[in-house]
Amino acid sequence: MSDTIAINDKISIERVGDVALIRIDNPPVNATGQAVRQGLQDAITQINAEGTAKAVAIYAAGRTFVAGADIREFGKPFVPPALPDVFNIIEASAIPVISVLHGTALGGGLELGLSTHARIGIEGLRVGLPEILLGLLPGAGGTQRMPRLTGVPFALEMILSGRQVPAKEALEAGIIDRLESGDPREVALKAAQDVIAGTLKTRRTDQIAVVPDQAALDQTAAHLKKTQSHLYSPHKCVEAVAAAVLPMAEGLKIERAAFMDCMNTPQRAGLIHAFFGERAVSNIPEAKGPARDITHVGVIGGGTMGSGIATACLLAGLRVTLVEVAQDGLDRGIATITGNLDGAVKRGKLKADKRDSTLAMLTTSLDMGALADVDLVIEAVFEDMGVKKDIFGKLDAICKPGAILASNTSYLDINEIAAVTSRPQDVIGLHFFSPAHVMRLLEIVVADKTAPDVVASGFALAKKLGKVGVRAGVCDGFIGNRILAHYSKTASYLVLDGATPQQVDSALEGFGFAMGPHKVGDLAGLDIGWMTRKRKAATRDPKERYAGAVADRICEEGWFGRKTGKGYYVYEGKDITPNLAVDRFIAEEREKAGITPRPFTDQEIVDRYMTAMISEAARVVEDGTARRPLDVDMVFLFGYGFPRHRGGPLHYADTIGAAALVARIKDYAKEDATYWQVPALLEKMAANGTSFADMNKEA
Ligand code: COA
Repeated sequence: MSDTIAINDKISIERVGDVALIRIDNPPVNATGQAVRQGLQDAITQINAEGTAKAVAIYAAGRTFVAGADIREFGKPFVPPALPDVFNIIEASAIPVISVLHGTALGGGLELGLSTHARIGIEGLRVGLPEILLGLLPGAGGTQRMPRLTGVPFALEMILSGRQVPAKEALEAGIIDRLESGDPREVALKAAQDVIAGTLKTRRTDQIAVVPDQAALDQTAAHLKKTQSHLYSPHKCVEAVAAAVLPMAEGLKIERAAFMDCMNTPQRAGLIHAFFGERAVSNIPEAKGPARDITHVGVIGGGTMGSGIATACLLAGLRVTLVEVAQDGLDRGIATITGNLDGAVKRGKLKADKRDSTLAMLTTSLDMGALADVDLVIEAVFEDMGVKKDIFGKLDAICKPGAILASNTSYLDINEIAAVTSRPQDVIGLHFFSPAHVMRLLEIVVADKTAPDVVASGFALAKKLGKVGVRAGVCDGFIGNRILAHYSKTASYLVLDGATPQQVDSALEGFGFAMGPHKVGDLAGLDIGWMTRKRKAATRDPKERYAGAVADRICEEGWFGRKTGKGYYVYEGKDITPNLAVDRFIAEEREKAGITPRPFTDQEIVDRYMTAMISEAARVVEDGTARRPLDVDMVFLFGYGFPRHRGGPLHYADTIGAAALVARIKDYAKEDATYWQVPALLEKMAANGTSFADMNKEA
């Protein structure tokens, strides 16, 4: 006999004999929103008040156990009960409470499990405390109960990495007590009956003593100070775990205070913007419509880009045909792809026993006729409009009807390329970032005549490849490279006006970029920018201040950065030192331009660089190249190494405010009114008191 009562619309209790089953049902991921917290508290209180059940089992409906606190509630007015209080009530239950975890038990979900008296995992389970990835720490007992179960070092590693621990490892580490297979309700019922029969032991986590490990805490704290001094929450995590040696109530208080400190930081807001932004980029009408089937991809060009794209497709289980014009190019392509796959095995992205069968999905040809049957062709040859037009003309004649014809160009006009075919509706830009099998950004460049189902196919492909697809309009450089072309000039102006390349780099690294712009230039190859400057020389606005003077001098020496051993820096083995010759070029170029160098603080450097980035980003949103500010943000997070905890250039812009940005630009314009122009959108926002976040909400 069983009967079920609803505590509210998310939580119900089912009675089966002496067992009470508490079911959580809050799609899509059973997050612990207010109704779930209240319902759990009421259910446990009610079951204890009645006192008839001998065991309670908590499980969840749908594809996963609780995947965490409801992130959407963060930053909004809080409605009790608080999660830690609910978990304390569960832990203190006189009737034993167990939990059955399936899917992903993350954050508050895992903490719920830790507060119960035993945990059963269902095959395929992954557990984790990913709060750190959102700028937080486990704030509902995770930092106190996890060390009690696993010991301090394991808990520290889990909390600081935020990684998802597979079921078997969770069992070995003592996080779960049993691993079973089956339907969560059935497993929950059986396990609760085992509790009553005495064959499944239960115990309160708060009554387990922590094995103190001050050395692990000290080592971790020192390491974080060295490697993550710009982040806030990792240090707070260590502080909270250190408190686990105290009595539970005291430790929980310290954890709570640390959690609230983290909650109030801009880093938390930036990281949560990144979390939702990553999911919102594909939330556009075209991406929701029907897509074309893609199982076989043609890639033209076996260079770094083409080989990277081919590797990404192979890793996603797609068949790939690689086409090159000459045998040596093809051989190089095959060697690069093979090397990439070996690298993927080393990084744990590909199982060693899958390497050969993955490579077997690759066919190669010197004849474009081999592309007759592919569903999608991605052209990745060098950036020359004439060459691209010739290729697309041929593809038009060769490819089957309905095949998608894509170019990986990083700035050329897709409309012009599409116009040489008889099927412009099938033509699209798919702009990958190097190395294409690693970098997660894919700009999906939609031309005037691109059909909606071709756009949807671009988004479906991005998902299949594990990438973040962002819709971009056609213009020189699309979203990312267009903005980059603008703000990178600031770094050069700062150097000409008085800063050193090293100071510019270190100021921006202090802001959170992994590498400053001069180091990035050296890594990417200074010759690329040199070629672009030469290409654009004839069309450059004569009023615009020339930014390439120093870089040109470096390139004229044959120094193209890392690959030649010298650029802004000198590279000798692992040593990187400033290239002293560059100081001379800078001094000479200053003299030529009649500049008296002046000092800049690191903050001034960051302000100018970021203001330039935000200005062009605002124009990109204003003219529709990006649909929403968040699209720009995701391009920068996933393609340009923008610090994730800053949320992206336009999320960061909101932390300054449109009015302050306009004032800054006007101030800079006193020196250079051509470069520093106030974007109309920013001016309007300043006047109306609106933000980029408002635009994201409206879109
Ligand atoms: N709170 C609120 N909403 C959440 C959420 C949470 N903790 N976790 C996921 N969601 C939402 C997503 O925004 C998405 O909504 P949408 O469909 O409206 O875009 C939906 O649930 C599905 O999530 P998605 O990530 O697209 O599904 P997935 O199957 O790829 O991954 C998870 C599922 C649970 C692994 C993943 O969503 C995740 O890692 N969530 C965050 C977990 C976390 O950080 N918890 C700690 C919070 S303190």
